[in-house]
Amino acid sequence: MQKKRRLFAFVFDPGMTTEDRVSKIELKSIQKLYRSLKVIHGIDLTVNDGEFLALVGPSGCGKSTLLRMIAGLEEISAGEIAISGTVVNDLGPKQRNIAMVFQNYALYPHMTVRDNISLNLKLSNVPKAEIGKRVEEAAQLLDIKSLLDRRPAQLSGGQRQRVAMGRAIVRNPAVFLFDEPLSNLDAKLRVQMRSEIKSFHQKVKTTSIYVTHDQIEAMTLADRIVVLNAGRIEQVGTPIELYETPKNTFVASFIGSPAMNLFEATVKDGENGSLIAITGGGLSVELPRAIRTSAGNSITVGIRPEHIKLTGEGFKLPATIAHVEPTGAQSHLMIDCNGTTMTAVVDDIVRLAPGAAVNFHVNPDKIHVFSKADGTRLPSGING
Ligand SMILES: Nc1ncnc2c1ncn2[C@@H]1O[C@H](COP(=O)(O)OP(=O)(O)O)[C@@H](O)[C@H]1O
Ligand SMILES: [Mg+2]
Repeated sequence: MQKKRRLFAFVFDPGMTTEDRVSKIELKSIQKLYRSLKVIHGIDLTVNDGEFLALVGPSGCGKSTLLRMIAGLEEISAGEIAISGTVVNDLGPKQRNIAMVFQNYALYPHMTVRDNISLNLKLSNVPKAEIGKRVEEAAQLLDIKSLLDRRPAQLSGGQRQRVAMGRAIVRNPAVFLFDEPLSNLDAKLRVQMRSEIKSFHQKVKTTSIYVTHDQIEAMTLADRIVVLNAGRIEQVGTPIELYETPKNTFVASFIGSPAMNLFEATVKDGENGSLIAITGGGLSVELPRAIRTSAGNSITVGIRPEHIKLTGEGFKLPATIAHVEPTGAQSHLMIDCNGTTMTAVVDDIVRLAPGAAVNFHVNPDKIHVFSKADGTRLPSGING
């Protein structure tokens, strides 16, 4: 097995050494009912050892419920959870060797940072010298050494979040669970903490599940992403897989920012054996050569804003500018294409007045095609 760098030279379970501890999480047919209301509908998922997995989905889809069941804070209505090969259904949170970082990281206001971080270790009767060593190491890693004697009120939001991380780290858990840990921070700090969490994981390689409703956070942090919708998994894949080949319109519109343009159309035969899609308003777009559909079918067409370009290859997309939103490095253009409103994202600042007529360019191979009936991605290529 690949050797992993661990934070501390000890583990809680004396039967294992630091290097051979494997923390794989396996969920089998997990269900959750609150009274008669089913909120998790049978989840099957394996989180690999050392993996950083993001669980993403809209508010209320069951992310926290699923995470809390893994942590042992919420009872499982049906199914099985195994950590490192051991079924933990009947084990309490303390016995699962898991550390959780929440959005609301309640620190004890009357205690110093050092005491906040070490409290759990003291309660577990870890020897004093050992506690001191672990707190120092965690503080070093999180760059909060100079803050150890302060109280929470004397810290910024980002520093408090780091202390909350420290409290989780010193326990040297087999698994980290994060539940929207950055939601309370302002936008700039969120980006900074996001990158710190990423480099932290690269150092310690502890198996982690990170819950967020923010798809950009999921895309930037995760080895793999699970898209959850109303208690069901829509798709599991790497960030690039979800971006390039979303399995359905839900994932297509959830992953990517600004969101993919989606509109309904009918398939028609084009020139030289090509296929085109035509909307009720008369907008016509060329479909990828490899797509498996035929004239007369009702489809939902998806075009990512960044694939609508001012210059370049591909078919022409005639449009009228509705308005322009400059962001600095890029401009977001709201455009009208024969009655279909779309967003285009182009590089740099563009000076286009509302009402201007522009021919955009779209590479047909970048177009996504879904069944209108059930929203699933249509197969393409010889092997589908
Ligand atoms: N203790 C509870 N009792 C009843 N319903 C709950 C409880 N906790 C959560 N729910 C419901 O379960 C669903 C999933 O909630 P949650 O897991 O918190 O979603 P998320 O974290 O994705 O926003 C929601 O519809 C929520 O209202
Ligand atoms: Mg939640």
